[in-house]
Amino acid sequence: MTMTVTNPINLASTLCEMPPGPCAIIIFGAAGDLTKRKLLPSLYNMRLNKLLPENFAVIGLSRAPINTDAFREDLTSSTKEYAASRFDAEHWNWFKERIYYLQGNFDDAKVYSNLGELLANVDREHGTQGNYLFYLATSEDYFETIVEKASQADLHKALENQWRHFIIEKPFGRDLKSAHELNKKLLTVLNENQIYRIDHYLGKETVQNILVFRFGNGIFEPTWNHHYIDNVQITVAETVGVEARGGFYEKAGNLRDMVPNHMFQLLSFIAMEPPTCFDADVVRSKKTELINSIRPLTYEDVHTNVVRGQYAAGEIDGQPVPGYRTENRVAPDSTTETFTAMKLMIDNWRWVDVPFYLRTGKRLPKRTTEIAIKFKSPPSCLFRNTTVSSLVENYLIMHIQPHEGISLEFGAKIPGPLLQVGPVQMDFDYQDYFGPSPSTGYETLIYDCMVGDQTLFQRDDNVEAGWRVVQPILDVWQSEKPKDFPNYPAGTWGPLAANKLINRDGRDWKI
Ligand code: BG6
Repeated sequence: MTMTVTNPINLASTLCEMPPGPCAIIIFGAAGDLTKRKLLPSLYNMRLNKLLPENFAVIGLSRAPINTDAFREDLTSSTKEYAASRFDAEHWNWFKERIYYLQGNFDDAKVYSNLGELLANVDREHGTQGNYLFYLATSEDYFETIVEKASQADLHKALENQWRHFIIEKPFGRDLKSAHELNKKLLTVLNENQIYRIDHYLGKETVQNILVFRFGNGIFEPTWNHHYIDNVQITVAETVGVEARGGFYEKAGNLRDMVPNHMFQLLSFIAMEPPTCFDADVVRSKKTELINSIRPLTYEDVHTNVVRGQYAAGEIDGQPVPGYRTENRVAPDSTTETFTAMKLMIDNWRWVDVPFYLRTGKRLPKRTTEIAIKFKSPPSCLFRNTTVSSLVENYLIMHIQPHEGISLEFGAKIPGPLLQVGPVQMDFDYQDYFGPSPSTGYETLIYDCMVGDQTLFQRDDNVEAGWRVVQPILDVWQSEKPKDFPNYPAGTWGPLAANKLINRDGRDWKI
């Protein structure tokens, strides 16, 4: 992550003074959706914003029986469709000439020797100088194999002044044990500074802005603790169902898919202690420290403080949508959860007695990701014995997506002779202020990987800390199947138990 103190409107032009050095990106799983929808459009955006080196190439690798020409054509149409920026034929032609395709199975040693030869040619042709970014955009079943085979072909070994980095997509493991095993395996071959465990939430501008908001300003941090904050609510709500991913989702479920990764990224940025400098390892140590301070959930906690749900048929935006159990590749009696809510406590000095309520799910009434921070009421009510019967609640809300901004809700005197207090809102809207900034969210992450900045990537201990927190939930849910599924109609805010979870503390969900 490049932080530049400048007028942010000029961020792209500041960065264009420092595109990464020469390199090639090798995408494993190149025929998949991620490549078409996110990776190629991101690389193309980077080219438009002068964030790619002139000496550059892309190699796509997958099992699909196509050749380089067909791959280039395929990517031309998908990039036209998914690039967040305008399609510019001149830039695309530059780009297209640097795209290559290699067909093969990920477990076939021959593929890696072919890849080595192709890379040597690409180095000669495009001056990429032996700097390689391997992007593992495959199913998690192949992560280990690819790294192992690539290392057997010596592709992971950089000569002096070269680099070899590996981006590993999510899911990184399916529980604590498997994540630990995977870390161990990768680390037998690679150094930690070659491994970039990606979580695309960290590529979102508004997520990165949490750090700037907290630590780049003097006015908020002094109130950022249990003296002033009553509770924190993190909501990641989606209107979509499982779409075409029923097979994957049946095995994963909502908890694994969203909580130890995306939700905990938001939680750690909101709640971590200030790092002493903006160094990747210092920042990441603070994040791990925070996640490790979450009070471990006991068996009883899982029952009282964690709620799971599964959507039944219902309506989204006035349109009927099917229930989860009738989605493609989903078992008709599936017990997979599509909704999770929980209350977590953080056992450190800053957050003592401040509950953190997390809620995420599919087929909820609106797509929104936001963090609502509720401040405590004033210690005494100055206006007693007046017409003011109650004070307005003070919320700071960080809107992560799709609306991007920050708002502050507070009470103001309603004009007139009577003393009345009403709620008002101060809004900062990213778009109003900075204008639209078309991006897929992957540009920053790919750029950072090319320049060797791991701040926005998960270190081995970050990932394991997240799994450690949710492991007791996985265990209880695995052994005790839900009896009330499906328990919320699509288009509602999840099961009633999610409301009870917060209402019993005398609080309400902000949205
Ligand atoms: C992915 C999950 O990691 O994140 C999906 O696998 C989910 O199930 C998606 O829909 C949400 O990402 P975003 O950026 O749309 O909030």
